[in-house]
Amino acid sequence: MKKNKTIFLTGASSGIGRELALDYAAPGVVLLLTGRDTGRLEEVGNLCRQKGAHVETCTIDVTERAAFEKKILDWDDQYPIDLLIANAGISGGDLYKIIDINLGGTFNTVTPLIPRMIARKSGHIVLMSSMAGFRGMPNAPAYSVSKVAVRAYGDALRPLLKPEGILVSTIFPGFVRTPLTDVNNFTMPFLMDVEKAAALIKCSIEAGKSSIAFPWQMHVFCWLLGVMPRAVGDWILSCGPQKH
Ligand SMILES: NC(=O)c1ccc[n+]([C@@H]2O[C@H](COP(=O)([O-])OP(=O)(O)OC[C@H]3O[C@@H](n4cnc5c(N)ncnc54)[C@H](OP(=O)(O)O)[C@@H]3O)[C@@H](O)[C@H]2O)c1
Repeated sequence: MKKNKTIFLTGASSGIGRELALDYAAPGVVLLLTGRDTGRLEEVGNLCRQKGAHVETCTIDVTERAAFEKKILDWDDQYPIDLLIANAGISGGDLYKIIDINLGGTFNTVTPLIPRMIARKSGHIVLMSSMAGFRGMPNAPAYSVSKVAVRAYGDALRPLLKPEGILVSTIFPGFVRTPLTDVNNFTMPFLMDVEKAAALIKCSIEAGKSSIAFPWQMHVFCWLLGVMPRAVGDWILSCGPQKH
């Protein structure tokens, strides 16, 4: 089992990211945490410090490319990053903003560190996709496009970076109870508590899994949707829950 000492995590101020930060917090661990809401981010930082971790926080938007790159590289100069978790994301609102944050933000998080990790011949990059990353979803068109793209980015990086000694993992959660899903007004099958989801993600990251998909029932369903004839998938999805 691989232990990571310096962990850079985006979207640490809420939901899955918050829970992951708390799970990783321990003596000897350096946590580099970002989010947009200073109050919530600092609260997570303080809780992690109480668990013995060294914590640095930065309130910054993942779409602010130049400023974010500078921050990442400054942090990496001080604390060479072992594990990067590109988790920040949104699921609703303006279509272009969803793509900007979920895909553009992922690029902005990952690309500055690739040359550093290659030079060190080590590192682990973890990307946050979704069960909506297996095909376009009628109830979340832009969101599913962003997550399909993140899945493809992971698939591209994994073989590219493996010879450099860098691991790439992609996470595909089903529905997890967080502020992001609290706004959904439809039944969410196999809804999972965030504590369970974060524990599963951490355990799979430490095991070096390239794909982290849960719960298994949603994984089977969404994987089948991605490979079955389009007309059949379209019909099944038209019978499913829709956002109102
Ligand atoms: N919950 C689920 O069911 C589910 C399922 C599949 C995939 N996911 C993915 O998991 C990730 C985390 O989701 P969550 O459920 O934990 O949602 P959440 O509770 O709403 O947390 C989202 C996090 O991302 C941060 N964030 C959003 N936009 C940002 C931006 N432009 N710049 C910097 N940080 C930004 C938020 O920061 P602030 O709060 O400080 O603004 C927050 O810390 C997302 O990528 C989401 O798509 C979630």
